Amino acid sequence: MTILEILQLKRERKKLAVVTAYDALFARIVEQAGIRVILVGDSLGVVVQGKPNTLSVTMDDMLYHTKLVADAAPRALVISDMPFMSYQVSAEDAVRNAGRLLQAGAAAVKLEGGAVMADRVKAMTSLGIPVMGHLGMTPQSVYALGGYKVQGKADDQASRLLQDAKAIEAAGAFALVLEAIPADLAKKITQALSISTIGIGAGPHCDGQVLVLYDLLGLFDTFVPKFVKTYAHLKTDALQALSRYKEDVEQGKFPSDSESYH
Ligand code: KIV
Repeated sequence: MTILEILQLKRERKKLAVVTAYDALFARIVEQAGIRVILVGDSLGVVVQGKPNTLSVTMDDMLYHTKLVADAAPRALVISDMPFMSYQVSAEDAVRNAGRLLQAGAAAVKLEGGAVMADRVKAMTSLGIPVMGHLGMTPQSVYALGGYKVQGKADDQASRLLQDAKAIEAAGAFALVLEAIPADLAKKITQALSISTIGIGAGPHCDGQVLVLYDLLGLFDTFVPKFVKTYAHLKTDALQALSRYKEDVEQGKFPSDSESYH
C-alpha cells in the first residue's frame, strides 16, 4: 500500500479500512485479514500500558512498537503516531522525530492539531515525510478539551475545524483523521478536501474508518465509546479459557497423557 494508492481510493470513492496494531502478533493477523493500512497509535499508552491517557507515551515507546509492527507487516502501510511533546515545541523537533519513526519502519507519521501545526506538517512533507493530520477530539489535548467529548457541535467550532482541515491539507498532508465529530460536519470536511478523511466516531461519510484494534476485538472494556463496533468478544473468550485452565490444573486434569513426554 502506498500514499498514492490512498489518494487514488479517494478519487475512486472507495472506502479504506485502517486499524491500530502495536505488536508483531496482531500486526500479522491484521495484514492476513487484508487490512492494508496500520496505525501504530499512541493509544498504546492506554490499551497496552494501562495509563489513563496518551500523554505519557514517549518517542522510545513509539519507536519500539513501530519496529515490531513494521517488521511483522511488510506489505501494509504503517503510520506512526508522533507522541505528545515530540512535535509541539518546534518544526525542527517534528522533522527530527518523524525521521526517527520512518527509520524504525513507518511510512508516514500522524500528528494532532489544526492550523497551528501547519508549519510542522509543511516542514515534514517538504522533506519527503508523509504526514496524516488528526482533528476533532484530539486525545493529546484531553485536558484542554475538558475530557473525551464530541467536538465541532457549535457552529463556530465547526467552521474552525473546517478551516483547520484545509490548513492541514494545504500544508501537504495526505490524509486526516477526524475523531468524534458530528457526521454532517465530517461529510462537509470530506467533500471540501482532496485528501482522504479517516473517521473514528465521525459517521459514515469519511473516506475511510479507523478503530483501535483492542476495541473492535472486544479486548479492552475499561471504556467503550459509542462509536466503537465490537466485532468479537476476545476478553470473554480469554476469561473462559483461563478459568478452564486453572480448574484443569487444580483438578489434576492438565497435563493429561497426550500432553506428556514418554
Ligand atoms: O492513537 C490512536 O490509536 C489514534 C486513533 C484512535 C485514530 O490516534
